[in-house]
Amino acid sequence: MASGSSDSLREDSRRTVFGWFKTRFPSVPWADMTRKVLETDQRQMPRSHAEKYELKTIWYWYPLYCLGGISFVAFIILTITGIILGFFYVPDGSYQFTTGGGLTNAAYQSMNRIMYQIPFGFIIRGMHHWAAHIMIAAVFLHMCRVYFTGAYKKPRELNWIIGVVLLMLTILFGYSGYLLPANNLSEGAANIGIEMTRASPLIGDQLATLLWGSTSTLSGYYVLRWYWIHVFILPFVGVGLMIVHMALVWVQGVAEPH
Ligand code: HEM
Repeated sequence: MASGSSDSLREDSRRTVFGWFKTRFPSVPWADMTRKVLETDQRQMPRSHAEKYELKTIWYWYPLYCLGGISFVAFIILTITGIILGFFYVPDGSYQFTTGGGLTNAAYQSMNRIMYQIPFGFIIRGMHHWAAHIMIAAVFLHMCRVYFTGAYKKPRELNWIIGVVLLMLTILFGYSGYLLPANNLSEGAANIGIEMTRASPLIGDQLATLLWGSTSTLSGYYVLRWYWIHVFILPFVGVGLMIVHMALVWVQGVAEPH
């Protein structure tokens, strides 16, 4: 008797967990869907609200539904221009004396070279700079659209959480990029970052040494550390999450206004 009721309890909890996933990520007959996509040129799965009810109206707010796509396009531009900048940028922030007795570093000099000597260098840097601004604005506004249309609700909770991580990654992309020219602004921002890290309880200094290479910007190590975060760690994690984020939109469809 007791074992019978514990069996049914186990069965219930299995159904609950399974049910949770099933409502959010409905299994679809993939082979049929693929055939249907090819035959009817229907790209989205499942059909959107507008497709399902064959709505002919162009809703006034539809452009706001492009913000996620705009974030992605900005990211592609950043990737292409970033790869080109990477051919010329030198991630070395250690200080050397100039012949005039001033201080400089190889990272700053390489930025000057990109701006004034490499053909089209200033345009590529400008595109990278402005695409970064556009991406941050677009991601933020995309989040506002999702919030105000209530698109974060069931079954899209997981995609909202992935979105929150993507927002943090985007901000970190911006911050780490800001450090790379190794100019006065970069050093000011690095100082704030170092002091914030050092203010962490118990392991502040150790954490600062891990993240910044030192507890002071004077070493110049911060440039190399944040360069690697900017060009390897963030892109790696970010691209993975963007793929999952957009795959979920494809599977769940866009939550259109009713
Ligand atoms: C790198 C950043 C991001 C990219 C490339 C991206 C991309 C996209 C795209 C292309 C869509 C399809 C619909 C649309 O464009 O509005 C979408 C939907 C969605 N995004 Fe993002 N997104 C990003 C960041 C975020 C953030 C920061 C949040 C929220 C915190 C978020 C939450 C969502 C949700 C919940 C949906 C489903 C909305 C619906 O079905 O109406 N995303 N995303």
